[in-house]
Amino acid sequence: MPDFAQSIQAALSERFGERLAVDPALPGLEELSRLAARRVCRRYLPREVEASLLRLLCACALSAPSKSDLQQGDILIIRDKAKRQSIGALLPDMPWLPEAPVFLVFLANGRRLPLIAQMRGKPFPNDHLDLFFNATVDAAIVLATFLRAAEAVGLGCCPISMIRDHARVIADMLALPDKVVPIAGLCVGWPAEPSGITARLPLGLTLHEERFDEGDLGQQIESYDRRRDARRPYRNQRQPERFGRAEFYGWSEDKARQYASPQRADFGAFVRAQGFKLG
Ligand SMILES: Cc1cc2nc3c(=O)[nH]c(=O)nc-3n(C[C@H](O)[C@H](O)[C@H](O)COP(=O)(O)O)c2cc1C
Repeated sequence: MPDFAQSIQAALSERFGERLAVDPALPGLEELSRLAARRVCRRYLPREVEASLLRLLCACALSAPSKSDLQQGDILIIRDKAKRQSIGALLPDMPWLPEAPVFLVFLANGRRLPLIAQMRGKPFPNDHLDLFFNATVDAAIVLATFLRAAEAVGLGCCPISMIRDHARVIADMLALPDKVVPIAGLCVGWPAEPSGITARLPLGLTLHEERFDEGDLGQQIESYDRRRDARRPYRNQRQPERFGRAEFYGWSEDKARQYASPQRADFGAFVRAQGFKLG
């Protein structure tokens, strides 16, 4: 019997740089140990994911809670190799995309509810930002639940939000109608190699008690940068021609550089063109 309490402690200490108390008598430690040690997977074996298994995992994911039971998160399965390759060709920096035997697209579906209102002969005075937001939250929860289900059976996954850089092309390719938008894609396959745990910001920054408390942001980020760098330093620096070569290149420098260029500035226009009103 593996010592789950110990593996949880080890994983979370690597993740957060903190030793957390784990009661070995707690039920569900196996699942917690999987969650604590989870990591993205970008290399896959050339092995199919059986259709029946995928359907089972999707059904588990779609069992996720849903805002007001409105059920506005959908999953679109792409197995067709040519289609996966066409999407992969849009994102040449992500060769893991066409290599994964299955690609899923998680959809915010704000379409069904107004259609149901029409079917039931009712007004629908809720065509505003909340419709988009609720559908997006539901789809994100479905995505997170799919990850948990897939990892429980040994599959590896990599979410792909970069498909939103080509939202119009993807929407046309997948015949997405009005008020249906992709929130992210997901590569799914059998892992070809173990990947490492990514360190997260300290709980002192992301876990608040009773009231929001930013604490000493600068100092905590600095020590996170160092802790992360000690385990897994960045191999490359972004845009050295623009920002120069940093002597110490940590997570905060990387994220600041990443977001120093516009990202998906046209996504709002796409969402509006798909029929969502964001007012
Ligand atoms: C919504 C979302 C979108 C993501 N998009 C991409 C992506 O486009 N390409 C990619 O390689 N990884 C993507 N990732 C994976 C993250 O880069 C990864 O989760 C992060 O680096 C932390 O690593 P970990 O999941 O192993 O802890 C995405 C993750 C999430 C949750």
